[in-house]
Amino acid sequence: MSMPEGLDLATFDRYAGLSLPRHVAYPMPTWWRTLEPREADELRKLTLVPRRPRDLSLYLHIPFCEKLCLFCACNRSIVAKGGEGGARMVEQYVEALISELHRRAGEFGEASGTGRVLRQIHWGGGTPTYLDRGQIERIATTVAELYPIAEDAEIAIEIDPRVTSDEQLRLLGELGFNRVSLGVQDFDPKVQEHVRRVQPLEMVRRMVDRVRELGVGSVNFDLIYGLPYQTEEGVSHMVDQTIGLRPDRIAFYHYAQIPDRIAHQRGINHEALPDSRRKLAMFLDATERFEDAGYRFIGLDHFALPDEMLSRALETGNINRSFQGMTTGAELDLVGVGCSAISVFPRTAYIQNQHDQKAYASMVLSGEEPATRGLRLSEDDAIRQAVLMELYCHNAIRPERLQSSCGVDYAAYFAGARRDLERLADDGLIRLDDDGGLTVEHPLGRVLMRNIAAVFDGYLQPEAAWKGQPQTFSASA
Ligand SMILES: C[S@@+](CC[C@H](N)C(=O)[O-])C[C@H]1O[C@@H](n2cnc3c(N)ncnc32)[C@H](O)[C@@H]1O
Ligand code: SF4
Repeated sequence: MSMPEGLDLATFDRYAGLSLPRHVAYPMPTWWRTLEPREADELRKLTLVPRRPRDLSLYLHIPFCEKLCLFCACNRSIVAKGGEGGARMVEQYVEALISELHRRAGEFGEASGTGRVLRQIHWGGGTPTYLDRGQIERIATTVAELYPIAEDAEIAIEIDPRVTSDEQLRLLGELGFNRVSLGVQDFDPKVQEHVRRVQPLEMVRRMVDRVRELGVGSVNFDLIYGLPYQTEEGVSHMVDQTIGLRPDRIAFYHYAQIPDRIAHQRGINHEALPDSRRKLAMFLDATERFEDAGYRFIGLDHFALPDEMLSRALETGNINRSFQGMTTGAELDLVGVGCSAISVFPRTAYIQNQHDQKAYASMVLSGEEPATRGLRLSEDDAIRQAVLMELYCHNAIRPERLQSSCGVDYAAYFAGARRDLERLADDGLIRLDDDGGLTVEHPLGRVLMRNIAAVFDGYLQPEAAWKGQPQTFSASA
Protein backbone atom coordinates (compact mmCIF):
# COMPACT_ATOMS: atom_id res chain seq x y z
CA MET A 1 0.00 0.00 0.00
CA SER A 2 1.51 3.36 -0.99
CA MET A 3 0.87 6.83 0.39
CA PRO A 4 -0.54 9.42 -2.03
CA GLU A 5 2.09 11.42 -3.87
CA GLY A 6 3.01 14.72 -2.27
CA LEU A 7 1.79 13.70 1.17
CA ASP A 8 4.15 15.24 3.68
CA LEU A 9 4.60 12.55 6.32
CA ALA A 10 6.87 14.67 8.51
CA THR A 11 4.07 17.26 8.79
CA PHE A 12 1.53 14.52 9.52
CA ASP A 13 3.76 13.19 12.32
CA ARG A 14 3.86 16.60 14.00
CA TYR A 15 0.04 16.72 14.27
CA ALA A 16 -0.89 13.07 14.76
CA GLY A 17 -1.45 11.25 18.04
CA LEU A 18 -2.30 14.35 20.12
CA SER A 19 -5.01 14.25 22.77
CA LEU A 20 -7.79 16.39 21.23
CA PRO A 21 -11.62 16.47 21.33
CA ARG A 22 -13.58 15.06 18.40
CA HIS A 23 -16.35 17.55 19.04
CA VAL A 24 -19.39 15.38 19.34
CA ALA A 25 -20.52 18.49 21.22
CA TYR A 26 -19.25 22.01 21.72
CA PRO A 27 -18.36 22.78 24.47
CA MET A 28 -17.29 19.17 25.08
CA PRO A 29 -18.92 17.40 28.08
CA THR A 30 -15.63 17.77 30.03
CA TRP A 31 -16.61 21.41 30.55
CA TRP A 32 -20.24 20.88 31.55
CA ARG A 33 -21.16 21.09 35.20
CA THR A 34 -23.32 19.37 37.77
CA LEU A 35 -26.94 20.50 37.60
CA GLU A 36 -29.46 20.70 40.41
CA PRO A 37 -32.91 19.35 39.35
CA ARG A 38 -34.28 22.91 39.43
CA GLU A 39 -31.54 24.10 37.06
CA ALA A 40 -32.28 21.28 34.61
CA ASP A 41 -35.91 22.35 34.59
CA GLU A 42 -34.94 25.95 34.00
CA LEU A 43 -32.66 25.00 31.13
CA ARG A 44 -35.44 23.04 29.47
CA LYS A 45 -37.85 25.95 29.85
CA LEU A 46 -35.25 28.27 28.36
CA THR A 47 -35.31 26.19 25.20
CA LEU A 48 -39.05 26.75 24.92
CA VAL A 49 -39.13 30.53 25.13
CA PRO A 50 -41.06 31.98 22.19
CA ARG A 51 -39.04 31.59 19.04
CA ARG A 52 -39.47 29.61 15.88
CA PRO A 53 -40.04 26.22 17.48
CA ARG A 54 -37.70 23.55 16.17
CA ASP A 55 -38.98 20.10 15.34
CA LEU A 56 -37.59 17.25 17.39
CA SER A 57 -35.22 14.34 17.28
CA LEU A 58 -35.60 11.68 19.96
CA TYR A 59 -32.75 9.51 21.26
CA LEU A 60 -33.48 6.48 23.44
CA HIS A 61 -30.58 4.85 25.28
CA ILE A 62 -30.79 1.10 25.98
CA PRO A 63 -27.58 0.28 27.86
CA PHE A 64 -27.72 -3.53 28.06
CA CYS A 65 -25.36 -6.01 26.35
CA GLU A 66 -24.85 -9.72 26.96
CA LYS A 67 -21.05 -9.59 26.72
CA LEU A 68 -18.40 -6.90 26.88
CA CYS A 69 -16.36 -6.00 23.77
CA LEU A 70 -12.88 -4.99 24.96
CA PHE A 71 -12.71 -1.86 22.83
CA CYS A 72 -16.12 -0.49 23.87
CA ALA A 73 -16.31 3.18 24.80
CA CYS A 74 -20.12 3.33 24.97
CA ASN A 75 -22.16 3.55 28.17
CA ARG A 76 -23.23 -0.09 28.47
CA SER A 77 -24.19 -2.44 31.25
CA ILE A 78 -23.33 -6.12 30.88
CA VAL A 79 -26.21 -8.32 32.01
CA ALA A 80 -26.08 -12.02 31.09
CA LYS A 81 -29.42 -13.43 29.94
CA GLY A 82 -31.27 -16.04 31.97
CA GLY A 83 -30.85 -14.65 35.50
CA GLU A 84 -33.92 -13.49 37.41
CA GLY A 85 -32.21 -10.50 39.03
CA GLY A 86 -30.92 -9.29 35.67
CA ALA A 87 -34.33 -9.64 34.02
CA ARG A 88 -35.96 -7.67 36.84
CA MET A 89 -33.39 -4.90 36.53
CA VAL A 90 -33.88 -4.63 32.75
CA GLU A 91 -37.66 -4.55 33.19
CA GLN A 92 -37.30 -1.76 35.75
CA TYR A 93 -35.16 0.20 33.34
CA VAL A 94 -37.80 -0.18 30.60
CA GLU A 95 -40.45 1.12 33.01
CA ALA A 96 -38.24 4.09 33.87
CA LEU A 97 -37.63 4.85 30.20
CA ILE A 98 -41.37 4.80 29.49
CA SER A 99 -41.94 7.04 32.48
CA GLU A 100 -39.34 9.53 31.23
CA LEU A 101 -40.94 9.49 27.78
CA HIS A 102 -44.17 10.66 29.45
CA ARG A 103 -42.33 13.32 31.38
CA ARG A 104 -40.58 14.73 28.30
CA ALA A 105 -43.70 14.54 26.14
CA GLY A 106 -45.35 16.95 28.52
CA GLU A 107 -42.48 19.35 27.99
CA PHE A 108 -41.71 18.89 24.33
CA GLY A 109 -44.55 17.08 22.62
CA GLU A 110 -47.95 18.39 21.65
CA ALA A 111 -48.72 19.19 25.27
CA SER A 112 -46.16 22.01 25.16
CA GLY A 113 -48.43 23.68 22.60
CA THR A 114 -45.63 24.27 20.12
CA GLY A 115 -46.98 21.92 17.44
CA ARG A 116 -43.55 20.38 16.99
CA VAL A 117 -43.21 16.97 15.39
CA LEU A 118 -40.65 14.18 15.70
CA ARG A 119 -38.51 14.03 12.57
CA GLN A 120 -36.01 11.48 13.85
CA ILE A 121 -36.04 8.64 16.34
CA HIS A 122 -32.82 6.81 17.19
CA TRP A 123 -32.52 3.79 19.50
CA GLY A 124 -28.92 3.42 20.64
CA GLY A 125 -26.92 1.70 23.32
CA GLY A 126 -25.65 -0.66 24.46
CA THR A 127 -27.73 -2.98 22.38
CA PRO A 128 -31.41 -2.08 21.89
CA THR A 129 -32.17 -5.59 20.56
CA TYR A 130 -31.11 -6.97 23.95
CA LEU A 131 -34.75 -6.21 24.87
CA ASP A 132 -37.46 -8.77 24.22
CA ARG A 133 -40.32 -8.36 21.79
CA GLY A 134 -42.79 -7.10 24.39
CA GLN A 135 -40.37 -4.48 25.76
CA ILE A 136 -39.49 -3.15 22.29
CA GLU A 137 -43.19 -2.94 21.42
CA ARG A 138 -44.11 -1.14 24.64
CA ILE A 139 -41.45 1.52 24.15
CA ALA A 140 -42.27 2.04 20.46
CA THR A 141 -46.00 2.24 21.18
CA THR A 142 -45.43 4.78 23.95
CA VAL A 143 -43.43 7.01 21.59
CA ALA A 144 -46.13 6.75 18.91
CA GLU A 145 -48.91 7.57 21.40
CA LEU A 146 -47.17 10.52 23.00
CA TYR A 147 -45.39 12.27 20.15
CA PRO A 148 -46.63 13.34 16.73
CA ILE A 149 -44.28 11.56 14.31
CA ALA A 150 -43.65 13.12 10.89
CA GLU A 151 -44.68 10.87 8.01
CA ASP A 152 -41.18 10.84 6.55
CA ALA A 153 -39.42 10.52 9.95
CA GLU A 154 -36.11 8.65 10.04
CA ILE A 155 -36.53 5.81 12.55
CA ALA A 156 -33.23 4.08 13.28
CA ILE A 157 -31.90 1.41 15.63
CA GLU A 158 -28.46 0.01 16.45
CA ILE A 159 -28.34 -3.77 16.21
CA ASP A 160 -25.66 -6.27 17.13
CA PRO A 161 -25.72 -9.10 14.54
CA ARG A 162 -24.77 -11.66 17.21
CA VAL A 163 -27.93 -11.17 19.28
CA THR A 164 -30.62 -9.96 16.87
CA SER A 165 -33.15 -12.61 15.93
CA ASP A 166 -35.23 -12.97 12.82
CA GLU A 167 -38.33 -12.37 14.87
CA GLN A 168 -36.91 -9.10 16.19
CA LEU A 169 -36.04 -7.95 12.67
CA ARG A 170 -39.59 -8.65 11.50
CA LEU A 171 -40.90 -6.70 14.47
CA LEU A 172 -38.66 -3.72 13.65
CA GLY A 173 -40.06 -3.73 10.12
CA GLU A 174 -43.64 -3.81 11.47
CA LEU A 175 -42.90 -0.96 13.88
CA GLY A 176 -41.76 1.30 11.03
CA PHE A 177 -37.99 1.32 11.52
CA ASN A 178 -36.44 2.45 8.23
CA ARG A 179 -32.75 2.36 9.10
CA VAL A 180 -30.70 -0.22 10.98
CA SER A 181 -27.13 0.25 12.05
CA LEU A 182 -25.04 -2.91 12.40
CA GLY A 183 -22.03 -3.02 14.70
CA VAL A 184 -19.49 -4.76 12.45
CA GLN A 185 -16.09 -3.38 13.57
CA ASP A 186 -13.86 -5.77 11.55
CA PHE A 187 -14.19 -9.15 9.82
CA ASP A 188 -10.69 -10.43 10.68
CA PRO A 189 -10.98 -13.41 13.09
CA LYS A 190 -7.68 -12.54 14.83
CA VAL A 191 -8.84 -8.99 15.57
CA GLN A 192 -12.31 -10.19 16.55
CA GLU A 193 -10.93 -12.73 19.01
CA HIS A 194 -8.60 -10.28 20.69
CA VAL A 195 -11.32 -7.65 21.19
CA ARG A 196 -13.79 -10.41 22.20
CA ARG A 197 -16.26 -9.63 19.47
CA VAL A 198 -16.53 -12.70 17.27
CA GLN A 199 -18.99 -12.43 14.38
CA PRO A 200 -18.05 -14.03 11.07
CA LEU A 201 -18.69 -12.34 7.73
CA GLU A 202 -21.41 -14.90 6.95
CA MET A 203 -23.36 -13.85 10.05
CA VAL A 204 -23.28 -10.21 8.93
CA ARG A 205 -24.20 -11.16 5.36
CA ARG A 206 -27.24 -13.12 6.54
CA MET A 207 -28.39 -10.20 8.64
CA VAL A 208 -28.01 -7.71 5.80
CA ASP A 209 -29.94 -10.01 3.44
CA ARG A 210 -32.70 -10.45 5.98
CA VAL A 211 -32.97 -6.71 6.69
CA ARG A 212 -33.24 -6.05 2.95
CA GLU A 213 -35.89 -8.77 2.44
CA LEU A 214 -37.96 -7.04 5.10
CA GLY A 215 -37.76 -3.78 3.17
CA VAL A 216 -36.03 -1.71 5.86
CA GLY A 217 -34.81 1.27 3.83
CA SER A 218 -31.21 1.85 4.82
CA VAL A 219 -28.44 -0.31 6.30
CA ASN A 220 -25.50 1.24 8.11
CA PHE A 221 -22.22 -0.46 9.10
CA ASP A 222 -20.09 0.69 12.02
CA LEU A 223 -16.46 -0.18 11.28
CA ILE A 224 -13.38 0.65 13.34
CA TYR A 225 -9.79 1.15 12.18
CA GLY A 226 -6.87 1.32 14.60
CA LEU A 227 -7.86 -1.84 16.53
CA PRO A 228 -5.16 -4.19 17.86
CA TYR A 229 -3.71 -6.63 15.30
CA GLN A 230 -5.22 -4.73 12.40
CA THR A 231 -2.81 -4.44 9.47
CA GLU A 232 -3.07 -2.20 6.42
CA GLU A 233 -3.77 -5.22 4.20
CA GLY A 234 -6.32 -6.57 6.67
CA VAL A 235 -8.27 -3.29 6.82
CA SER A 236 -8.10 -2.99 3.05
CA HIS A 237 -9.64 -6.44 2.79
CA MET A 238 -12.29 -5.56 5.37
CA VAL A 239 -13.20 -2.49 3.29
CA ASP A 240 -13.56 -4.65 0.17
CA GLN A 241 -15.70 -7.15 2.07
CA THR A 242 -17.87 -4.25 3.23
CA ILE A 243 -18.23 -2.89 -0.29
CA GLY A 244 -19.26 -6.40 -1.36
CA LEU A 245 -22.21 -6.25 1.08
CA ARG A 246 -23.10 -2.72 -0.12
CA PRO A 247 -24.38 -1.04 3.07
CA ASP A 248 -26.05 2.29 2.27
CA ARG A 249 -24.08 4.17 4.89
CA ILE A 250 -20.75 3.53 6.62
CA ALA A 251 -19.28 4.95 9.81
CA PHE A 252 -15.53 4.30 9.64
CA TYR A 253 -14.49 5.14 13.19
CA HIS A 254 -10.99 5.84 14.39
CA TYR A 255 -10.49 3.57 17.42
CA ALA A 256 -10.69 5.64 20.61
CA GLN A 257 -8.31 4.10 23.14
CA ILE A 258 -8.64 5.88 26.51
CA PRO A 259 -7.51 3.28 29.10
CA ASP A 260 -7.20 5.96 31.81
CA ARG A 261 -10.95 6.44 31.66
CA ILE A 262 -12.15 3.06 30.35
CA ALA A 263 -10.61 0.39 32.58
CA HIS A 264 -11.45 -2.68 30.45
CA GLN A 265 -9.48 -1.20 27.53
CA ARG A 266 -6.36 -2.00 29.60
CA GLY A 267 -6.99 -5.58 28.49
CA ILE A 268 -6.10 -4.52 24.93
CA ASN A 269 -2.58 -5.47 23.89
CA HIS A 270 -1.07 -2.02 23.55
CA GLU A 271 1.88 -3.38 21.58
CA ALA A 272 -0.49 -4.66 18.88
CA LEU A 273 -2.08 -1.25 18.17
CA PRO A 274 -1.17 0.16 14.75
CA ASP A 275 0.79 3.45 14.91
CA SER A 276 -0.40 6.78 13.46
CA ARG A 277 1.27 6.32 10.08
CA ARG A 278 -0.31 2.89 9.63
CA LYS A 279 -3.70 4.32 10.61
CA LEU A 280 -3.19 7.13 8.10
CA ALA A 281 -2.54 4.55 5.38
CA MET A 282 -5.68 2.62 6.46
CA PHE A 283 -7.88 5.72 6.35
CA LEU A 284 -6.58 6.95 2.98
CA ASP A 285 -6.83 3.53 1.38
CA ALA A 286 -10.37 3.06 2.72
CA THR A 287 -11.42 6.51 1.52
CA GLU A 288 -10.16 5.74 -1.97
CA ARG A 289 -11.83 2.33 -2.08
CA PHE A 290 -15.17 3.62 -0.79
CA GLU A 291 -15.15 6.56 -3.22
CA ASP A 292 -14.16 4.32 -6.16
CA ALA A 293 -17.08 2.07 -5.23
CA GLY A 294 -19.51 5.00 -5.48
CA TYR A 295 -19.72 6.15 -1.85
CA ARG A 296 -19.58 9.85 -1.00
CA PHE A 297 -17.36 11.14 1.78
CA ILE A 298 -19.79 12.93 4.12
CA GLY A 299 -17.51 14.27 6.79
CA LEU A 300 -14.98 13.19 9.39
CA ASP A 301 -15.57 9.41 9.28
CA HIS A 302 -18.82 8.87 7.38
CA PHE A 303 -19.56 7.64 3.86
CA ALA A 304 -22.90 7.10 2.11
CA LEU A 305 -24.28 6.02 -1.25
CA PRO A 306 -25.45 9.00 -3.34
CA ASP A 307 -29.18 8.31 -2.94
CA GLU A 308 -28.99 7.61 0.82
CA MET A 309 -30.63 10.23 3.06
CA LEU A 310 -27.29 11.40 4.51
CA SER A 311 -25.92 12.12 1.03
CA ARG A 312 -29.10 13.98 0.14
CA ALA A 313 -28.87 15.92 3.40
CA LEU A 314 -25.32 16.95 2.51
CA GLU A 315 -26.63 18.53 -0.70
CA THR A 316 -29.43 20.45 1.01
CA GLY A 317 -27.26 21.50 3.99
CA ASN A 318 -29.56 19.65 6.41
CA ILE A 319 -26.63 17.89 8.04
CA ASN A 320 -25.57 17.70 11.66
CA ARG A 321 -22.70 16.49 13.84
CA SER A 322 -23.76 15.00 17.16
CA PHE A 323 -23.17 12.19 19.64
CA GLN A 324 -24.51 9.85 16.96
CA GLY A 325 -21.83 10.90 14.46
CA MET A 326 -22.87 12.67 11.27
CA THR A 327 -26.66 12.71 10.97
CA THR A 328 -29.41 14.44 9.06
CA GLY A 329 -31.48 17.11 10.80
CA ALA A 330 -29.41 20.27 11.20
CA GLU A 331 -32.10 22.35 12.84
CA LEU A 332 -33.69 19.96 15.31
CA ASP A 333 -33.80 19.98 19.09
CA LEU A 334 -32.60 16.61 20.35
CA VAL A 335 -34.37 15.11 23.34
CA GLY A 336 -32.41 12.26 24.97
CA VAL A 337 -34.12 9.74 27.26
CA GLY A 338 -32.45 6.97 29.26
CA CYS A 339 -29.29 6.81 31.34
CA SER A 340 -26.49 9.13 30.17
CA ALA A 341 -28.73 10.36 27.32
CA ILE A 342 -28.02 13.92 26.24
CA SER A 343 -30.51 16.55 25.13
CA VAL A 344 -29.12 19.13 22.73
CA PHE A 345 -30.68 22.53 22.12
CA PRO A 346 -28.50 24.08 19.44
CA ARG A 347 -26.88 27.36 20.45
CA THR A 348 -28.72 27.20 23.82
CA ALA A 349 -27.99 24.28 26.15
CA TYR A 350 -26.95 20.69 26.82
CA ILE A 351 -28.61 18.52 29.47
CA GLN A 352 -27.39 15.03 30.38
CA ASN A 353 -29.09 12.32 32.41
CA GLN A 354 -27.57 10.34 35.26
CA HIS A 355 -24.95 7.96 33.83
CA ASP A 356 -25.55 4.84 35.92
CA GLN A 357 -28.53 2.79 34.70
CA LYS A 358 -29.65 1.61 38.15
CA ALA A 359 -29.45 5.10 39.67
CA TYR A 360 -31.26 6.51 36.63
CA ALA A 361 -34.11 4.01 36.93
CA SER A 362 -34.58 4.57 40.64
CA MET A 363 -34.53 8.38 40.21
CA VAL A 364 -37.16 8.34 37.46
CA LEU A 365 -39.36 5.78 39.19
CA SER A 366 -39.36 7.82 42.38
CA GLY A 367 -40.42 10.92 40.46
CA GLU A 368 -37.05 12.68 40.52
CA GLU A 369 -35.58 14.60 37.59
CA PRO A 370 -32.83 12.31 36.16
CA ALA A 371 -30.72 15.11 34.61
CA THR A 372 -27.47 15.61 36.51
CA ARG A 373 -25.11 17.50 34.19
CA GLY A 374 -25.33 20.18 31.55
CA LEU A 375 -24.45 23.63 30.38
CA ARG A 376 -26.16 26.81 29.36
CA LEU A 377 -24.22 28.13 26.37
CA SER A 378 -22.74 31.63 26.48
CA GLU A 379 -22.89 33.80 23.37
CA ASP A 380 -19.28 32.90 22.61
CA ASP A 381 -20.05 29.16 23.03
CA ALA A 382 -22.96 29.48 20.60
CA ILE A 383 -20.85 31.20 17.95
CA ARG A 384 -18.02 28.65 18.22
CA GLN A 385 -20.54 25.81 18.16
CA ALA A 386 -21.94 27.14 14.88
CA VAL A 387 -18.44 27.49 13.40
CA LEU A 388 -17.42 23.97 14.40
CA MET A 389 -20.67 22.55 13.03
CA GLU A 390 -19.95 24.34 9.75
CA LEU A 391 -16.42 22.93 9.68
CA TYR A 392 -17.33 19.29 10.45
CA CYS A 393 -20.45 19.21 8.26
CA HIS A 394 -19.15 21.04 5.20
CA ASN A 395 -15.39 20.46 5.40
CA ALA A 396 -15.19 24.23 4.99
CA ILE A 397 -16.09 27.50 6.68
CA ARG A 398 -18.15 29.90 4.56
CA PRO A 399 -18.45 33.29 6.30
CA GLU A 400 -21.66 34.28 4.52
CA ARG A 401 -23.39 31.11 5.75
CA LEU A 402 -22.41 31.94 9.33
CA GLN A 403 -23.53 35.52 8.88
CA SER A 404 -26.99 34.38 7.84
CA SER A 405 -27.31 31.49 10.35
CA CYS A 406 -26.13 33.28 13.48
CA GLY A 407 -25.36 36.86 12.49
CA VAL A 408 -21.65 36.63 13.22
CA ASP A 409 -18.97 38.55 11.32
CA TYR A 410 -16.62 35.56 11.08
CA ALA A 411 -13.50 37.44 9.92
CA ALA A 412 -13.76 40.01 12.70
CA TYR A 413 -14.72 37.56 15.42
CA PHE A 414 -11.86 35.15 14.66
CA ALA A 415 -9.24 37.76 13.71
CA GLY A 416 -7.14 36.45 16.62
CA ALA A 417 -7.06 32.97 15.09
CA ARG A 418 -5.65 34.20 11.79
CA ARG A 419 -2.02 33.36 12.60
CA ASP A 420 -2.89 29.80 13.62
CA LEU A 421 -4.98 29.34 10.47
CA GLU A 422 -2.12 30.60 8.29
CA ARG A 423 0.14 28.04 9.96
CA LEU A 424 -2.36 25.25 9.20
CA ALA A 425 -2.55 26.52 5.60
CA ASP A 426 1.27 26.54 5.29
CA ASP A 427 1.28 22.94 6.50
CA GLY A 428 -1.31 21.92 3.89
CA LEU A 429 -4.25 21.07 6.20
CA ILE A 430 -6.50 23.88 4.93
CA ARG A 431 -6.76 26.40 2.12
CA LEU A 432 -7.58 30.01 3.03
CA ASP A 433 -10.25 31.24 0.61
CA ASP A 434 -10.87 34.65 -0.97
CA ASP A 435 -14.18 35.03 0.90
CA GLY A 436 -12.20 35.01 4.18
CA GLY A 437 -13.24 31.42 5.00
CA LEU A 438 -11.38 28.16 4.58
CA THR A 439 -11.61 24.76 2.91
CA VAL A 440 -10.27 21.54 4.40
CA GLU A 441 -7.58 20.06 2.13
CA HIS A 442 -7.55 16.38 1.21
CA PRO A 443 -5.81 14.24 2.41
CA LEU A 444 -4.03 15.96 5.32
CA GLY A 445 -6.90 18.11 6.53
CA ARG A 446 -9.45 15.31 6.44
CA VAL A 447 -7.36 13.05 8.69
CA LEU A 448 -6.28 15.90 10.96
CA MET A 449 -9.71 17.50 11.27
CA ARG A 450 -9.54 17.59 15.06
CA ASN A 451 -6.36 19.66 14.90
CA ILE A 452 -8.08 22.20 12.64
CA ALA A 453 -11.13 22.26 14.92
CA ALA A 454 -8.92 22.85 17.96
CA VAL A 455 -8.19 26.40 16.71
CA PHE A 456 -11.87 27.29 17.20
CA ASP A 457 -12.31 25.60 20.58
CA GLY A 458 -12.24 28.34 23.21
CA TYR A 459 -11.69 25.86 26.08
CA LEU A 460 -8.37 24.47 24.86
CA GLN A 461 -4.93 25.77 25.77
CA PRO A 462 -3.17 28.03 23.23
CA GLU A 463 -1.66 26.10 20.33
CA ALA A 464 -3.58 22.93 21.25
CA ALA A 465 -3.66 22.07 17.53
CA TRP A 466 0.11 21.46 17.78
CA LYS A 467 0.45 20.50 21.43
CA GLY A 468 -2.74 18.61 22.33
CA GLN A 469 -4.72 19.12 25.50
CA PRO A 470 -3.80 17.77 28.96
CA GLN A 471 -7.37 16.49 29.55
CA THR A 472 -7.51 12.92 28.28
CA PHE A 473 -9.22 12.92 24.94
CA SER A 474 -8.40 10.14 22.48
CA ALA A 475 -5.63 10.52 19.89
CA SER A 476 -6.26 12.94 17.00
CA ALA A 477 -5.17 10.49 14.25
C1 LIG B 1 -23.43 1.47 20.84
S1 LIG B 1 -22.34 0.73 19.82
C2 LIG B 1 -23.24 -0.25 18.66
C3 LIG B 1 -24.37 -1.08 18.92
C4 LIG B 1 -24.15 -2.49 19.35
N1 LIG B 1 -23.90 -2.49 20.77
C5 LIG B 1 -23.01 -3.19 18.65
O1 LIG B 1 -21.90 -3.13 19.16
O2 LIG B 1 -23.26 -3.79 17.61
C6 LIG B 1 -21.95 1.96 18.63
C7 LIG B 1 -20.64 1.83 17.92
O3 LIG B 1 -19.64 2.56 18.57
C8 LIG B 1 -18.39 2.13 18.08
N2 LIG B 1 -17.41 2.13 19.17
C9 LIG B 1 -17.53 1.61 20.39
N3 LIG B 1 -16.40 1.79 21.10
C10 LIG B 1 -15.53 2.46 20.29
C11 LIG B 1 -14.19 2.94 20.45
N4 LIG B 1 -13.51 2.77 21.57
N5 LIG B 1 -13.63 3.60 19.42
C12 LIG B 1 -14.30 3.78 18.25
N6 LIG B 1 -15.56 3.35 18.05
C13 LIG B 1 -16.18 2.68 19.05
C14 LIG B 1 -18.59 0.74 17.50
O4 LIG B 1 -18.34 0.78 16.13
C15 LIG B 1 -20.04 0.44 17.81
O5 LIG B 1 -20.65 -0.31 16.80
S1 SF4 C 1 -22.10 -4.87 22.02
FE1 SF4 C 1 -21.81 -2.70 21.40
S2 SF4 C 1 -22.29 -1.46 23.22
FE2 SF4 C 1 -22.11 -3.62 23.88
S3 SF4 C 1 -20.03 -3.81 24.61
FE3 SF4 C 1 -19.99 -4.38 22.44
S4 SF4 C 1 -19.60 -2.44 21.28
FE4 SF4 C 1 -20.16 -1.91 23.38
